[in-house]
Amino acid sequence: MQIRFADSRPAGEFALVLAVAGKNRATLNGLGPQRPAVDAALNRQRFEGESASSAELFIPADGGGVRRLLVVGTGEGSSPADAAEKLGGTISARLLTSGESHAVVDLTGQGFDADAGARVALASALRAWRHDRYRTRLTDKQKPTFAELTIIGAAAGAQERWEQRWRPVYEGVSFTRELVTEPANIIYPEAFVERCQGMRDLGIELEVLDGKAMRGLGMGALLGVAQGSVRDPRLLVMRWNGGSDGEAPVAFVGKGVTFDTGGISIKPAQGMESMKWDMGGAAAVVGAMMAIAKRKAKANVVAICGLVENMPDGNAQRPGDVVTSMSGQTIEVINTDAEGRLVLADAITYAQRNYRPKIVVDLATLTGAIVVSLGHEFGGLFAPDDELAGQLLAASAASGDRLWRQPLDEAFDKLIDSPIADMKNVGPREGGSITAAQFIKRFVENGTRWAHLDIAGMVWSDKADTTYDKGATGFGVRLIDRFVEAAVEKAA
Ligand code: BES
Ligand code: MN
Ligand code: ZN
Repeated sequence: MQIRFADSRPAGEFALVLAVAGKNRATLNGLGPQRPAVDAALNRQRFEGESASSAELFIPADGGGVRRLLVVGTGEGSSPADAAEKLGGTISARLLTSGESHAVVDLTGQGFDADAGARVALASALRAWRHDRYRTRLTDKQKPTFAELTIIGAAAGAQERWEQRWRPVYEGVSFTRELVTEPANIIYPEAFVERCQGMRDLGIELEVLDGKAMRGLGMGALLGVAQGSVRDPRLLVMRWNGGSDGEAPVAFVGKGVTFDTGGISIKPAQGMESMKWDMGGAAAVVGAMMAIAKRKAKANVVAICGLVENMPDGNAQRPGDVVTSMSGQTIEVINTDAEGRLVLADAITYAQRNYRPKIVVDLATLTGAIVVSLGHEFGGLFAPDDELAGQLLAASAASGDRLWRQPLDEAFDKLIDSPIADMKNVGPREGGSITAAQFIKRFVENGTRWAHLDIAGMVWSDKADTTYDKGATGFGVRLIDRFVEAAVEKAA
């Protein structure tokens, strides 16, 4: 998507887009003599300007012929940021395969500040994202036509705000979606790392540990998961040092299970293909690093991804096996399908021992139970620290990546004690997301502030929304980006 900001309407053919907040149609005044016919057409469609509603009609074009007019409702009383994102997203949803290649949206009279103007661009670009690489038989009618959006009437500074603040986020979210969408024969641990190598050019330091290096560090929990796969695991470490020298970093740790068959505790066939996106936490973390580096955030950030494939095999770990984690704690592996927490345990230990972060936030598609609790509307937030929980909830509200806080408690911790090792990797079925979080908590060392985000219900969507189509959502990138801005950069 080509996005431009301009002072006036360009020459040539384009669809004109105007936004209307509820029943007040003052923003259509510029239509001049065409206004009565447009009003009549909108009334005939029962268009009332509700949020994300839209109506299309054709009006006479200046130089003869017809012009598509898309009128988008932004609702009464929406905040400028929300109205702007609804508008941008709706433009792309309506025009993507419409036959129209260029649209001009006139923001005159919307009362949008520079940020809101830039967010029209952000939402339009995000909603137009698709992954068509393997669809070689698309007919012309199925292919996107919409390729260019010109924004006029925006507040001064909107273009700069887009380029410096929101285009980086768009690029980070797109990168995450691509990793999540790619199948597991294409994205396996080594391939995931390969796709991230280009981020060195953004000034990110990149370090990679292979299976051998991890054996040297005693990462028995992560390696136990990886041992059933012919794909060698990787630990990917990225550093962005945009903050002050010597300032302890914030660490984001991602679950990167590039495919989760369940291992010997194998999953049912039905729906197993969706486990290609069991690396959605890792993908969110690297997409956020891209955004943070591209916008040159003034913060020290570390990203660590535990990348493994969970497969059943003659060499796979068995239920009942006891493994020793890098922390020295031993784990009885009751269920090989509870593999994410094993991967995170060693990744979190590595993060703390090597980078002494002041905060660790892990993101993981960890449990089916969180999807039972929160559906596809909220990710689960687990954090013993009220202040950190509050900062993450604030970032959630501001970014649109919605979280709902869940409990942690000693009573749940007891449920993962093992008779043969320090702990077992599963508790009872009840409270399954909480015992998973309690398991991870056992690897948090000497008072490090920590939060766990169980995003199993959020990385993939069966239905389109304002800023995404069906498929990979990119959940977590905007959340991390906002958290870094509000809780790390502004706090400094
Ligand atoms: N990757 C899954 C969690 C998951 C399930 C994500 C469904 C998205 C949709 C995870 O590794 C897993 O298998 N968890 C088990 C844990 C259980 C064995 C304690 C689960 O949730 O069933
Ligand atoms: Mn699993
Ligand atoms: Zn998994």
